[in-house]
Amino acid sequence: MPRPIAVAPSVLPVDFARLGDECMALEKAGVDLIHWDVMDGVFVPNLTFGPDVIASTRSLVDIEFEAHLMVVEPDRLLDRYVEAGCSTVLVHAEACDHLHRTLSHIAELGATPGVALNPHTPADVIRHVRELLGVVLVMTVNPGFGGQSYIGAMEAKVAEVAEMLDGYDCALEVDGGIGPSTVAGAMASGADRLVSGSALFRDPEGLEHAVADLRSRAEAAQA
Ligand code: DX5
Ligand code: ZN
Repeated sequence: MPRPIAVAPSVLPVDFARLGDECMALEKAGVDLIHWDVMDGVFVPNLTFGPDVIASTRSLVDIEFEAHLMVVEPDRLLDRYVEAGCSTVLVHAEACDHLHRTLSHIAELGATPGVALNPHTPADVIRHVRELLGVVLVMTVNPGFGGQSYIGAMEAKVAEVAEMLDGYDCALEVDGGIGPSTVAGAMASGADRLVSGSALFRDPEGLEHAVADLRSRAEAAQA
């Protein structure tokens, strides 16, 4: 039974001067949750949202927030992002010396633990923490910036992760370069949660059309 498809927009492309309005527009456009790309300028060469920025928008919408922590030593920050209103927290396997402990910590905070895998990281990294995971995020770009090109070679890894997650209640998310021309390949490989940033915001027919179009393309291609 395929998992329900979730559209999770990255808010990197929005007008930060109107962040709250943009979150409300995303909810109105029919997205399932909001994907906050948190960057510390060390793990990736970019700097984005602190917990207080996310917290400032929390009461404006009802949909779930997930924090994609592209940060070193994420254990220092987990509680801050959960308190800010993120009910899913994704850490990078590459940033964790003790991934099992970090994921357990997220669960103890009452949030859903997730792990993100950079393009070079093998799927097997999740083998011994699968029972802790609610989301596996396969990066389809190198993290740090929106608007990059989709790395099609990651579809083989998506398929590998999908096989490893068979029997586990865990979403398989893809992130980076997801749009009308790439969503089918990602879905056919086994993804069910789609992070999309620039593709959603550059649709000339507007956000609602972009979300509905991405969702219908995903439904048509779901493995
Ligand atoms: C990159 C971020 C992605 C990215 C998605 O580090 O994790 O979420 O912003 O944006 P697009 O869809 O523009 O690649
Ligand atoms: Zn992301």
